[in-house]
Amino acid sequence: MKAILLDGFGGPEVMRLGEATRPEPGEGEVRIKVAATSVNRADTVQRRGNYPPPPGASEILGLEAAGVVDRVGPGVTHWRPGDRVMALLTGGGYAEYALADAGHLMAVPEAMDLETAAAIPEVYITAFLNLFLIGGLSDGDTVLLHGGGGGVNTAAIQICRALLSHCRILVTASPGKIARVKALGADRVIDYRNENFAEVVRDFTGGAGADVILDHIGADYLAKNQAALAVQGRLVVIGLMGGATGQINLGIMMVKRQRIIGSVLRALPKERKTAIVTVFTERVLPHIAQGDCRPLIHRALPLAAAADAHAEMEASGHFGKIVLQVS
Ligand SMILES: NC(=O)c1ccc[n+]([C@@H]2O[C@H](COP(=O)([O-])OP(=O)(O)OC[C@H]3O[C@@H](n4cnc5c(N)ncnc54)[C@H](OP(=O)(O)O)[C@@H]3O)[C@@H](O)[C@H]2O)c1
Repeated sequence: MKAILLDGFGGPEVMRLGEATRPEPGEGEVRIKVAATSVNRADTVQRRGNYPPPPGASEILGLEAAGVVDRVGPGVTHWRPGDRVMALLTGGGYAEYALADAGHLMAVPEAMDLETAAAIPEVYITAFLNLFLIGGLSDGDTVLLHGGGGGVNTAAIQICRALLSHCRILVTASPGKIARVKALGADRVIDYRNENFAEVVRDFTGGAGADVILDHIGADYLAKNQAALAVQGRLVVIGLMGGATGQINLGIMMVKRQRIIGSVLRALPKERKTAIVTVFTERVLPHIAQGDCRPLIHRALPLAAAADAHAEMEASGHFGKIVLQVS
């Protein structure tokens, strides 16, 4: 089968379209004939050699895919060849065929095309898991999201609006993306290059701060995130674009009863991921099917142009998701 292969680790130029062995589904697995996959920031980190796949996962890049069930392994009863599905993958999406655990598949809503579906699993599930299941975001809360033009956070804004009737949403963005982030439903977009987001959050909330912060910047934002966090606030760290090692004021953390939580979706035990996909299917997928949440596709490119897609993501030229068309 055709797949994107890596000639070592490095910049986008290490990626090339080549031939790989078509995988066979094992117990509880489903093989998908991939119509489309999409690019995640983590793929670029893996390509650089800094995010190895978990044990047993495909070495091929790609954390999500949409397509048609091609073959099911022993013990799979819920899915049949021909079903239109989208899936959370531990790897292998940048290929004509990919394996997924049967519990990590979702039916594609009837009216939705497979390219759009390929932009859903990783970012919407990440946003839902970390804001709601881990962060405990609920009605009446204030949330701070960073990088509102990215895949995870365009999804996060939409999910907050769809699932909550009252929620104050503050979002950081670079100047060129502010208007589009505002249009997605943010109450206040903070220009992170020219404003101090901790001060803006405090002013906006009358000093109270944010109940939940979803952060993928890490060390560079740790002190300001803590300053922006409310009493009993939860800071959920899902990425390290600004470094891994920072300093935290434990005194403030203790007195304000704040919680800092690290979270990674890919490496979770498969049973836990099945449970998350099940809750997501019940609570969020209907909003996507109805159009309250609408995956934002910045661009769709053929699989062979995966290197261009990575270069564009690393330059942060995108708004929303970059999709790769596979077949
Ligand atoms: N732990 C997990 O389970 C998990 C799962 C999925 C994703 N993630 C992580 O979540 C992050 C986002 O992933 P993605 O696929 O959505 O990537 P993405 O589409 O590239 O989004 C990243 C966004 O970060 C913004 N950004 C960069 N520097 C910033 C800064 N200093 N302050 C605020 N925003 C900044 C960029 O926007 P501008 O153009 O405005 O700079 C960009 O839109 C990545 O770090 C990824 O590894 C983690």
